[in-house]
Formats: sequence, structure tokens, C-alpha cells
Amino acid sequence: MSTTFQLDTSTSRATPTPKPRKRLTVPRIRDRKKDGQTKEPLVMLTAYTARQAQLLDAHCDILLVGDSLGQVVYGLDSTLPVTVDMMIAHGAAVVRGSYHSLVVVDMPFGSYERSKEQAFDTASRIMAETGCAAVKLEGGEAMAETISFLTNRGIPVMAHVGLTPQAVNVLGGYAARGRSQEEHDKIIGDGMAVQNAGAFSVVAEGVLEPIAIALTKSLEIPVIGIGASAQCDGQVLVTEDMLGMFERVPRFVKRYEDIASVIDKTVAQYAEEVRERSFPTADQTYQPKS
Ligand code: KIV
Repeated sequence: MSTTFQLDTSTSRATPTPKPRKRLTVPRIRDRKKDGQTKEPLVMLTAYTARQAQLLDAHCDILLVGDSLGQVVYGLDSTLPVTVDMMIAHGAAVVRGSYHSLVVVDMPFGSYERSKEQAFDTASRIMAETGCAAVKLEGGEAMAETISFLTNRGIPVMAHVGLTPQAVNVLGGYAARGRSQEEHDKIIGDGMAVQNAGAFSVVAEGVLEPIAIALTKSLEIPVIGIGASAQCDGQVLVTEDMLGMFERVPRFVKRYEDIASVIDKTVAQYAEEVRERSFPTADQTYQPKS
């Protein structure tokens, strides 16, 4: 098992090789919200690979190794089959590829819900084997005891409320949450519960905007929105979604680029050149020394 969390600069293909910078810490992220206000919203994106982390690191405060990698990287139809081993492999790569951002790794479905002891075993393994600074878990009040157990034992926890994709089979789909008073009250109650249990921040996903605003106003810890509100203390998106790697994305995603088209065009050109034998040229071949 590799415990190398640092980039090997002699073998890195990235030029210039990123310069080490002081990494943001959990208390610094937590303290970006003071007296209920966050002057500078937290910038968070998902990252799954070392190179992706290198490219995102300078612009982000937090890199989330989300279990969304199940769909984005592995082509699974939900996050449910994602394993701890997958999270560890990608988490270690993202830590290696970053210097500045706080790296948070998702605990996958089934790896923490049974008991607080099970959660500790999973979270401590993820932290020891990736070098990340915090874990994220889904759930509110039901997870409060677990969050308290972890934080009291040195494991910072980011919580995740509202639309929790690991509960897709209970929720019946990925629709926005909070349309009934009961759901509204549950989301606010869940936020309060994870804060009181010691979570240093909370992701609010797929919730009606007024609820996201109410949650942001009522919590002392930063609320990071996804499909929530610009009034949250920060925002997170799945990087491949915002880069335009996929045609079908949730309504809350802004596609800042159309990388899928760039790849399509580029690979079409490569294929044409291979087929007509115009690649490789002399520039890309080794010749005997004369
Ligand atoms: O898994 C993930 O990428 C996430 C974000 C969408 C918040 O949990």
C-alpha cells in the first residue's frame, strides 16, 4: 500500500510542476464564516485524478473526491456500488495532485451507516491511506451521533443534507427536496443537527432556494450549495458537468465549456491522420543517428 501523498516532481508530466503552497486547513475553511457571514464564498469542485487536481487546485478552496466518481469515472448508474478502495485510490491521487486546497473524501454507501465504530474504521482508513484532511458523509439528524464520535476522535466531517444521492432508493429519484413543510423542516433540522454534532461544514444539495437561504442564515458553519442558492456560503459542482463533458446534466449545472466537443473534434482529427498515415511525422519518430 503506497503512503506517498506527494507528487514525484521528477516524473510529473505537468510543466511547470506545481509549486508547493501552504494547504488550507479545516479551521480556516470553517472560519471563513464569521458571525453568520461569509465575505468570500468557498469554491469547491470535485476532483478524481492527480492531473485534474493540479488544474483545479489554484482556483479552489476545497477539492471533493466525491462518490459521484461512480457515475463520472466508472459509468455506474448510481453511487451505491462505489467502494472504499475506489475512494482511497482516487483520494490519494487528488492529494498528490494538490498543494493548496483542502481535500475532502466521500465515505461511500454502506461504509459508515451501520455504527459509529464502522464509520470510524472507514474514515480513519481513508485519512491514513489518502492523506486527506476530512471526510464527507450523507445524512442529517440520523448521522449526528456518528459525526460527534468522529470529530471527537480527530476526524473532521463535512455533512451532506437535502438531496442525498446515496438515499436515491428511499427518496425515489433525484428531484429537488423541500416542497412540503415536512421536508422543509427536516432539511433545517438536519442542518442544525450536523452542526451541533460538530460538522465543520455542510453541503446542501437540490433544495428549494428559500430553504437554502434559511439554512445558510441559521447555521454558524459554512453551507456549501449545489442546486441550492447563490446566497450559500460556497458552491460545489461536479467538475465534468461544469466543463461540459456530458450532454445530460442536472438543471442546476452551468456548463462553462463544451469539452466533450473539443475531445470529439480532436480525436476525429487523430483518427483521420492515423488512417491516412499522416501521423506520426518525422517530428514524432526516432531516426538512427547519422
Ligand atoms: O459525490 C459528489 O460529487 C458530491 C457532490 C455533488 C456534492 O457529493
